[in-house]
Amino acid sequence: MTARTLDGIDVQGKRVLVRADLNVPVRDGKITDLTRIERLSPTIRELSQKGARVVVCSHFDRPKGARVLEMSLAPMATALGEVLGMKVHFADDCVGVQAQQVIERLAPGDVAVLENTRFHAGEEKNDPVFAAELAKLADIFVNDAFSAAHRAHASTEGVAHLLPSYAGRLMQAELEALQSALGSPVRPVMAVVGGSKVSTKLDLLGNLVGRVDVLVIGGAMANTFLASRGVAVGRSLQEGEMHDTARAISARAEAVGCVIVLPVDAVTATEFRANPPVSVVAAGAIAADAMMLDVGPATVADLVARLASVKTLVWNGPLGAFETAPFDAATVALAHAVAEATERGSLRSVAGGGDTVSALRHAGVLERLSYVSSAGGAFLEWLEGKTLPGVAAIGG
Ligand code: 3PG
Repeated sequence: MTARTLDGIDVQGKRVLVRADLNVPVRDGKITDLTRIERLSPTIRELSQKGARVVVCSHFDRPKGARVLEMSLAPMATALGEVLGMKVHFADDCVGVQAQQVIERLAPGDVAVLENTRFHAGEEKNDPVFAAELAKLADIFVNDAFSAAHRAHASTEGVAHLLPSYAGRLMQAELEALQSALGSPVRPVMAVVGGSKVSTKLDLLGNLVGRVDVLVIGGAMANTFLASRGVAVGRSLQEGEMHDTARAISARAEAVGCVIVLPVDAVTATEFRANPPVSVVAAGAIAADAMMLDVGPATVADLVARLASVKTLVWNGPLGAFETAPFDAATVALAHAVAEATERGSLRSVAGGGDTVSALRHAGVLERLSYVSSAGGAFLEWLEGKTLPGVAAIGG
């Protein structure tokens, strides 16, 4: 990792602007998952204990430059206060007089959250004037929002060029985990990529083929790969227009010595709902009226056997339609095998992406992998080999 960290930083009495990702799941006005806030708290606590005046900014949802009441960060400020066990102040705007007045009243060690940066159109435009308004509020910038680092916005990118900038502890952990998984990993490396569409994961597959030793393709994407090889997949979800692409990815994998692993068997049903009648069939024997909704037990056994010789695992996307029973079985079984290998010390396991995190939580192994990223889109873009503007701007 090349970005500067908080090690040895002198923040006593200084105003430190922390870019957090408080874009947390909310249902009916209530925060339903505190993970991002909990993971942010070590950075805030450390800065506060070192005597900084901590000023937290973030986006929430997509208000598109307008002030939308339901998209206020006030509830996140309260939640952060509860997680930290201290009072957290709140400013009704993220720039201008309101923000300045709240910040002026902060004593060393105090923490304030500013209102949603996306209430200003300048945020998403990365407007230099808006970035300068943000920079005016602080002496130091700390980016702790890896999960928003794929956005070149004023609070993630622009402001980093205007103040001395550092990576917060969560950003540091994310970068170190990803570096250990794909930058300079212990080999062999296996990637498990699931999800429904090859078309949305094209860059990802293209990048991984050149970097990993074994590429496991699960989810509905596996159907597209199987069908591209002439295997009948019945009524399974698949993208006919991606067959050429799937064949090209397979050919490239062969050329660079990356083994592509596809399901050898499937759990199928003729209707997609919870607990329908199911069949377990070989991958080549999917009935014309059936859909593959999960990979089968022989595939799981194959993957678990492969884990024994793998040293690093990168996981993005479930193997089956895990939100609907019983099509969670393969994902849950693999998740347990990965957790056990990690705990035995034979495997470094890094996972990320929205669905993946839900699937690992569902399997009850979220805390048992080496690292589970709290990022969705940013994790994907990193796996695609793209430069993340928010990371580049802090020298990472
Ligand atoms: C996320 O939740 O992935 C980040 O907060 C980015 O949000 P966005 O997709 O609205 O930019």
